[in-house]
Amino acid sequence: MSSRHEAPASTSGGVASPIYARIAGTGSHLPPKRWSNDEFVAWLAERGVQTSSDWIVDRTGIEARHFADPDVTSSDLGVQASLQALAAAGCQPADIDLIICATSTPDMVFPSTACLIQKKLGIHGCPAFDVQAVCSGFVYALTVADALIRAGSARRALVIGAEVFSRILDFNDRTTCVLFGDGAGAVVLEASDRPGIVASRLHADGQYSDILCTPGAFRGGEVLGDPTLKMDGQAVFKLAVHVLDQVAHEVLDAAGRTPDSIDWLVPHQANIRIMQGTARKLKLPNSRVVTTVDQHGNTSAASIPLALDHAVRSGTVKPGQSLLLEGVGGGFTWGAVLIDY
Ligand code: UT7
Repeated sequence: MSSRHEAPASTSGGVASPIYARIAGTGSHLPPKRWSNDEFVAWLAERGVQTSSDWIVDRTGIEARHFADPDVTSSDLGVQASLQALAAAGCQPADIDLIICATSTPDMVFPSTACLIQKKLGIHGCPAFDVQAVCSGFVYALTVADALIRAGSARRALVIGAEVFSRILDFNDRTTCVLFGDGAGAVVLEASDRPGIVASRLHADGQYSDILCTPGAFRGGEVLGDPTLKMDGQAVFKLAVHVLDQVAHEVLDAAGRTPDSIDWLVPHQANIRIMQGTARKLKLPNSRVVTTVDQHGNTSAASIPLALDHAVRSGTVKPGQSLLLEGVGGGFTWGAVLIDY
């Protein structure tokens, strides 16, 4: 799926004018319990799992992650991020007419996490649904919201990435459990007469479904198969570096821009080596890569909106700047969104 801002038009007051979608506000939320590498490594050692902070930092750049308490769900985190995004956009829950939540750790099989967030925010009647594209979920959700706004089907969307990945980790598997964390990020995306989202590209290739998956399923009231995350780290690493470079060029080409026009790369926060490798291929210095993986770990669909919100609130990302958001993850899925913020 792809989109590019090329004069989608609507009629307003008898005058045809293009509709675009802009980010009007951002928000994020992390569960309060932060686990530094040292604390987490010590906890794992008590369970007989051997790893080290040095290995984690050296191979991934991760120094800490947050884990939600057992009774806290993705919708709980998503609501907090949404409230911040609504406040930043200067609007009320009642102003929202579309809710899309990207998550692979929904509160329950159904209703969707988006519907549960809708309920907790006291919003009635607007469409609400989840997008399941794992770590690419937020760029998928943003692209769908952009398309619905440009089609005139919505005016102001809440687009959320929310995850409690700690629920699907195997804490006896050191190759995966040290990588992930919990959190949520959100944006209010609203109709505008000037472009915010400039272009986007989404991809998937199910032939790689085995290299990153959580294969368990429910049947007859029982969990069949292993419900914890499995990953062939090296295969994911190689594919990620390749497709992120490819999709970055696709989206830039679609917009008629070049890599040096990007002020900030806001990549999925999985591994600092993948993020910096992507920047290197685009000839962007590491200083133009928004980086939160060190403090959040990999929060899957939440990682991009979390990173974006931190960069906005710290004043790193400023109005008028050009942002390239890039996601990659299980499915295999990947995509990019170019934004004039
Ligand atoms: O969000 C979805 C996208 N996911 C990703 O982007 C993840 C992509 N993959 C990666 O980030 C990296 O492949 C990992 C961080 C998962 C692994 O890094 P690596 O440099 O590819 O390490 P490796 O798998 O080649 O393992 C190197 C060594 C192995 O030991 P031997 O065989 O060389 O003796 C592993 O057993 O590191 C060992 N190892 C560990 N050692 C200490 C693996 N995990 C750990 C650990 N602590 N936690």
